[in-house]
Amino acid sequence: MIKITKAKVADAQAIRQLETVVWKEEVTNKYDAPIFVRFGWCYVAKSGQKIVAAITSFLANTNEVYVCDWVVAEAYRRKDIGQRLYQTLIKAAGSRDIISLINPKNTASLLAHEKLGFKVVRRVKMAYGLRDGLEAGNRILVRRKHT
Ligand SMILES: CC(C)(COP(=O)(O)OP(=O)(O)OC[C@H]1O[C@@H](n2cnc3c(N)ncnc32)[C@H](O)[C@@H]1OP(=O)(O)O)[C@@H](O)C(=O)NCCC(=O)NCCS
Repeated sequence: MIKITKAKVADAQAIRQLETVVWKEEVTNKYDAPIFVRFGWCYVAKSGQKIVAAITSFLANTNEVYVCDWVVAEAYRRKDIGQRLYQTLIKAAGSRDIISLINPKNTASLLAHEKLGFKVVRRVKMAYGLRDGLEAGNRILVRRKHT
């Protein structure tokens, strides 16, 4: 059975490890990960004690929830786990909008966001100002308005 809970600081390194496996690159520094979990809005899906999916976000000073990462371990994909995690965050966000930046090549994520009620806002050129690596290139800004 898959159980979704708010992430605890003790989950931080396992979330980081899952992100590293999924992205094949370290996306969160080991020292920053616990702080992120402590002060951000992060949720995990567990199968027993094992973290199989996570969503990490924070409340921006614009009162929008900004989703930084959303990962499901490969063996657990297409079982609605990603969607259930996101719906937990949507519920927690209450009347706040949720935004995220998506790689235009990430069809699965774009379709999933559309299904969850997000709309494309605009294309952001060189969103992170990086020329190389995972975060290089353009992104699509999506927004889910509270209805
Ligand atoms: C994107 C991701 C988080 C989705 O998680 P998931 O648990 O497999 O997704 P769900 O089973 O909840 O599917 C929800 C919807 O997403 C879309 N979707 C998910 N995977 C898809 C795929 N491979 N191809 C097309 N659409 C896909 C579908 O619309 C799906 O709804 P449907 O099953 O009714 O068609 C997962 O594929 C993943 O971890 N990918 C690698 C990391 C990543 O790209 N993260 C997103 C960063 S913005």
